[in-house]
Amino acid sequence: SLQPVLLSGGSGTRLWPLSREAYPKQFLALAGEYTMLQATWRRVAALSDAAPLVVANEDHRFLVAEQLRVIGAPAARIVLEPVGRNTAPAIAAAALVAMADGSDPLLLVLPSDHVVRDAEAFRAAVTAAMPAAEAGALVTFGIVPQAPETGFGYIQADTGDSVRRVLRFVEKPDAATAQAYLDDGGYFWNSGMFLFRASRYLEELGRHRPDIAAAARAACAHLDHDALSQGGEFLRLDRDAFAASPSESIDYAVMEKTDAAMVLPVDIGWNDVGSWSALWEVSEQDGDGNAHHGDVIAIDSRNSYAYARRLVALVGVDDLVVVETDDAVLVAAKDKVQEVKQVVARLKAEQ
Ligand code: GDD
Ligand code: MG
Repeated sequence: SLQPVLLSGGSGTRLWPLSREAYPKQFLALAGEYTMLQATWRRVAALSDAAPLVVANEDHRFLVAEQLRVIGAPAARIVLEPVGRNTAPAIAAAALVAMADGSDPLLLVLPSDHVVRDAEAFRAAVTAAMPAAEAGALVTFGIVPQAPETGFGYIQADTGDSVRRVLRFVEKPDAATAQAYLDDGGYFWNSGMFLFRASRYLEELGRHRPDIAAAARAACAHLDHDALSQGGEFLRLDRDAFAASPSESIDYAVMEKTDAAMVLPVDIGWNDVGSWSALWEVSEQDGDGNAHHGDVIAIDSRNSYAYARRLVALVGVDDLVVVETDDAVLVAAKDKVQEVKQVVARLKAEQ
């Protein structure tokens, strides 16, 4: 059986001032009618009978439950983290919860803040990857890289038509290394979506990071078996045990180290919406390349993105990002939007 796992613990600081700690981007309808969390579930609901298994921060429990309820999702099991410890322990907790009834489902691990334009192609890819995952592989979905981005994992894949062996997995290389991978060819971006049996993930985590595996087990040990198998429950991880886990992503903790990694290259219209320029890319643009959300007038302006609560007018500007909210305004050069997270860092330091 297939169990979708929605990771909803990120803070999305590069989409400030819209994405905030109390209301990160996965809970916003940035790229369509549904929030990114809702769109993530809708994309995979048809793949299995399972209800969602979500891992999220304690502070967001009602947002998660309510956003899934209003789209008619079956009552989710929502694993609550007292503190974020990144994705390696979060996925371990999901695996332990999924196995509590004695089963060993395939976990389809999904970030809840990505755009996938071609959902049908994505579902077909998941189905195609299932035999390899059943056989014990840790499968990721590979994206043909378009630029030497440093925010992604890079996967060197063996040749083949379908699911291929991973020769090397390098998480977030520096720009020169990323460029060398692009020149070399044969590399894919890691989409951050994974398919593996719950037990296989725990085995590989236990092999390479026994400290994280042990912390996750300790954090789940008190969970009551009846609650674990029921929908509509908040499953609280033990605060001290979970906080004691090292903070590490699945990419560094497992994918860089395991011999069991495989990759299925996909063409699904994927975008991780990691910045305002990425959001501009996935938004509908007018004839001048401008994309808007809200009440915006653009005159003699090109390739700009504006998000407006009140009226915003752009006059004679190119490649600009303007985001206007109730309590903050961002004006940024479109090719510098990665630096927006420094605003958040500055604000935190001044608090
Ligand atoms: N529950 C939970 N707890 N979820 C988390 C936590 C956590 O502590 N930290 C992050 N997440 C969620 C985020 O909300 C996001 O949906 C997903 O896990 C991935 O985390 P990111 O922080 O966005 O990772 P990244 O973008 O830097 O890198 C990952 O994704 C890239 C593709 O977008 C890696 O897997 C890269 O290799 C990959 O290329
Ligand atoms: Mg991300």
